[in-house]
Amino acid sequence: MTCPSPLHIDKELILFGASGDLAKEKLYPALFDLFMRDEGVRVTGFGRTAFSHDDFRTLVREAVSAKRAQATPEDIETFSSCFRYYSGTYDRGGMKALSEALRGTPKKSLFFYLAIPSEYGLIEAIIDGLAGNDLLGKTTSLALEKPFGSDLASAKQLNALLARHLDESQIYRLDHYLAKDMVRDLFALRFANPIFDPVWNSRFIRDITIEIWEDEGIRKRAEYYERSGAIRDMLQNHALELLAFTTMDQPKSQDPEDIHHEKIRIFRKLRLFGNEKLENISIGQYDGYRKEPLVASDSLVETRASIRLEIDTPRWRGIPITIASGKKMPKKTTDITVTFRKPEHTLWEASGCALAENRIRINIQPENEIRLRLNSEFSTEKKCAYPADLRFAFADNAYSFKEPYDNALHDFFAKDQGTFLNAQEILLSWKFIDSVLAVIEPKRREILEKY
Ligand SMILES: NC(=O)c1ccc[n+]([C@@H]2O[C@H](COP(=O)([O-])OP(=O)(O)OC[C@H]3O[C@@H](n4cnc5c(N)ncnc54)[C@H](OP(=O)(O)O)[C@@H]3O)[C@@H](O)[C@H]2O)c1
Repeated sequence: MTCPSPLHIDKELILFGASGDLAKEKLYPALFDLFMRDEGVRVTGFGRTAFSHDDFRTLVREAVSAKRAQATPEDIETFSSCFRYYSGTYDRGGMKALSEALRGTPKKSLFFYLAIPSEYGLIEAIIDGLAGNDLLGKTTSLALEKPFGSDLASAKQLNALLARHLDESQIYRLDHYLAKDMVRDLFALRFANPIFDPVWNSRFIRDITIEIWEDEGIRKRAEYYERSGAIRDMLQNHALELLAFTTMDQPKSQDPEDIHHEKIRIFRKLRLFGNEKLENISIGQYDGYRKEPLVASDSLVETRASIRLEIDTPRWRGIPITIASGKKMPKKTTDITVTFRKPEHTLWEASGCALAENRIRINIQPENEIRLRLNSEFSTEKKCAYPADLRFAFADNAYSFKEPYDNALHDFFAKDQGTFLNAQEILLSWKFIDSVLAVIEPKRREILEKY
């Protein structure tokens, strides 16, 4: 496990925003995991911060030590020797030294990763800098982090900018939720188990709920959050992606294009449940939000939101599907709950017993488990059937989870688009979210609840 010599590099990650939170918290630890599995790459960091190569390696070592307590200092040291750093402004001139350093590397080995805020025109400036320095070939790959725009118009602009320089197959738009093992397993749960397909429709399912709750507040992200809010920050991307995986038809194959095709068919058919009215939407703001640093004292930004929608297809029409997310909630948890209809009559009615609905709850985090609620007759006193959960926890089955960024970087270097989003699904999800926000905006002040 040594860093490949420059003569044998077949993959080079060029990381913009190398001094940032995402890089330190997620990317360096995940790159270390890959390195330990002999999937190491060379990393060139770039940013305005003036680090020497050694300063940068120290930062990388500290970041990995903080997150991978079991790693040996020797492994971390060898890993950090694969890193180098160039500083400059995010524009053509500022990227000259970087482009000189990459001059001899084949274009197909270049993997650019934009771990920078999506605001301030940084993406535009970096793409212009890369193109102006002749670094974007037909085989170069480029990854970007969500958010991809802040509405349909800005997402269109971003896609158009990327399309001027890169083919869609070279662009990797990352929503790290899709790289979670449990989300990948959702695909297997649905399509590797034919028992579900016959009941996965409006005839048997009563409703679906997708909830993403966080216990923390906005931390240091006020500047971004004041422009975003929970709907843009969480529902437009993570929640709608979970929704697509929960409801899409089986794709023709596991090829990324076939999976994107099915997701797009869902996104095209989204609408507010039953009608376009406000009663399908609830927004709230946590107590103390307006006192957070950099938050306006009269801010109307929602930190919790819930939208009841439906998918206008024969399979799902008439089924309420709720997507919800919030900060400062009692617990950090992400759940998909599919509740089935009760039969009109049951054998237990005669004894005055109401049966519970069957329900599947998929806990994406933190428990990583699937619970199927069944009715069972374990009481002898009264002829009743009571709900009990059949529980499958991945942790009990010696399954070792990989971090989402570990999966995402692995797929990025393998040039596998399966974990990433394509241009069209982003536009369609924004189209729906814009229509929801258009309903909210005139009434925002009146409907914003405190919690
Ligand atoms: N943090 C997470 O856990 C997380 C999770 C999911 C997605 N994301 C996404 O990942 C991206 C990066 O997030 P982050 O938390 O790492 O951001 P960040 O720490 O705020 O910024 C990353 C780097 O970008 C550069 N930068 C920041 N503001 C700039 C400005 N106004 N002008 C020029 N350069 C600027 C800075 O590097 P230099 O000063 O050295 O140039 C900074 O270290 C964002 O799109 C975010 O939405 C983050």
